[in-house]
Amino acid sequence: MAILGIIGGTGLTQMQHLNIQKQSRIATPFGEPSAAYVHGELYGNEVVFLARHGNPHTIPPHKINYRANIWGFKELGINDIIAVAAVGGISAEMKPAHIAIPDQIIDYSYGRAHTFFEDDLANVTHIDFSYPYANLLREALIGAATQSNLPVSTQATYGCTQGPRLETAAEIRRMHQDGCDLVGMTGMPEAALARELGLNYAALAVVANWGAGLQAGEITMVEIEQNLHEGMANVTRILEMFIKAY
Ligand code: HPA
Repeated sequence: MAILGIIGGTGLTQMQHLNIQKQSRIATPFGEPSAAYVHGELYGNEVVFLARHGNPHTIPPHKINYRANIWGFKELGINDIIAVAAVGGISAEMKPAHIAIPDQIIDYSYGRAHTFFEDDLANVTHIDFSYPYANLLREALIGAATQSNLPVSTQATYGCTQGPRLETAAEIRRMHQDGCDLVGMTGMPEAALARELGLNYAALAVVANWGAGLQAGEITMVEIEQNLHEGMANVTRILEMFIKAY
């Protein structure tokens, strides 16, 4: 039976209800993944969980070893990955604690190790990335959300910024004009690296705050944590339905 990979972001450093069977540390040609991979049983299925920011949460978005993280999943024989990510909301529907299953990406990050195609250049180096998220996984996530009676956005463009600072109001205005609905810091190169290794990858994005300039006052960590707390409870419900049907 296929084993599902789950990447947890801010607000999801550990999976509740996961009956842990073992943990594995993997050395990859690209260095160390963010944490040990946690193997276990969740809602009747086998899963492997990785905390993107480490456990405890100490690795900021621009310091994450995305290549090692994705490589480790491949090495463990995982074919499907669901990535959970905290984001800022840009378009009107993306209010705090809302959940979206993005279908597109615009990458504004820079200076990250973003490809596996560095040395062995006899192989194909141009993956097709027209539709960056795996459609079958997206459809299954949308089905799980519908079954859970949770209103999710089933299309959204995720804009990936470099961080770790939040954006300026003008940057968010520009991203809105570009067509971004969400802003986050970890969606890339994660999604592209999964595609390079032939892994199916889809994301559940949880809105933690309005993007810069879209709300009165500063964006605070307290507010982010509160909204994530609410949103992650719904993410857990969607994951439960998804995993039961997987
Ligand atoms: N910007 C970028 N990344 C984020 C935000 C944001 O406003 N909120 C949560 N992750």
